[in-house]
Amino acid sequence: MATGLFSSTAAKLVAAAGLAALAASATAVLAGPNDNKLVVDGKEYVTKLPGPEGGPLKTIYSGWNFRNEATQAMQLDDFDNPGFVNVETGEQLWSAVDGEAGKSCASCHNDASESMKGVRAQMPKWNEKAGKPLALEQVVNACRETNMKAKPWKWESNEMLSMTAFIGSHSRGMPVNVKTDGPMKEWWQKGKDIYYKQVGQLDMSCAGCHEQNFGNMIRADHLSQGHINGFPLYRSKWQKLGSAHRRFKGCMKNIRATPYKVGGDEFVALELYVASRGQGLSVETPAVRN
Ligand code: HEC
Ligand code: HEC
Repeated sequence: MATGLFSSTAAKLVAAAGLAALAASATAVLAGPNDNKLVVDGKEYVTKLPGPEGGPLKTIYSGWNFRNEATQAMQLDDFDNPGFVNVETGEQLWSAVDGEAGKSCASCHNDASESMKGVRAQMPKWNEKAGKPLALEQVVNACRETNMKAKPWKWESNEMLSMTAFIGSHSRGMPVNVKTDGPMKEWWQKGKDIYYKQVGQLDMSCAGCHEQNFGNMIRADHLSQGHINGFPLYRSKWQKLGSAHRRFKGCMKNIRATPYKVGGDEFVALELYVASRGQGLSVETPAVRN
């Protein structure tokens, strides 16, 4: 039974890779995660840990373990990590006055290395005022609009990516730790439903690739478990930083599905669920991928 399921998924994988002619010999090349360690400034990050009992993954691996050494090398040293340009921009924006209230983030939150420590690891997080979980981008914009009387930043703008990279850098090395109980439960379930729902012309789900086929090659790419502990991250294909929602959107387009809206409830629910699958992995923001 499992074999049949695998080969039909494998055929879809091949189709997704645009290599329909090879569908007959669909069993993709198995090339598991590598065991290279992520150590930055002498600090070792958790990129591999046992999955929770009864969960779908026996071992949880960061996307790090699926990248080749050339890509990994860029993440081993902050000077070589192109994402740090944004971290520096974010640091400048942190203390830049903007908006009618005449305030900067620093006016209220002071030293980000104190006040923002661990924040990224818990996102998306329940927000009482909004009555729903908010992603980091939404919290930043809520502060801009309400507390600074400033214009919200666009989700994928350089300003937003720089700010979320800067805030995220203060959680580096800390374990992903999202809440999934209480009022979050319903959102987590909604995210889970999206994760397992087969969609698009290829009729595939996130799980079809990132749960059932991680380790396999698709096009020239090595399929990971699709965790988001490194976001926002620098991707050489994008030549810039990108958000988790941008990645979700790209993955949905690849299976020729209509993506949900970036910043919309569906993607926030999906972000929460995907984050929970990587619970315990170290935050790597800003990670480097290809
Ligand atoms: C006028 C004061 C004020 C300003 C200015 C302000 N904030 Fe906030 N911010 C708050 C308050 C109040 C909260 C909610 C209480 C809390 O969690 O600290 C908050 C919460 C947050 C959180 C969530 C923290 C958590 O633990 O979940 C983030 C992230 C954040 N702000 C980022 C920013 C950024 C980035 C800026 C600048 C673009 C900014 N804030 C500007 C007052 C402010
Ligand atoms: C046809 C296979 C396929 C499907 C279906 C798919 N993805 Fe992906 N995804 C990829 C490939 C290929 C990559 C790039 C290599 C990697 O990191 O896995 C990727 C990368 C990612 C990453 C980046 C991981 C990292 O560490 O940088 C995330 C997050 C992700 N996908 C989430 C999703 C979500 C959520 C869904 C469902 C909406 C989904 N993917 C559906 C193929 C797929």
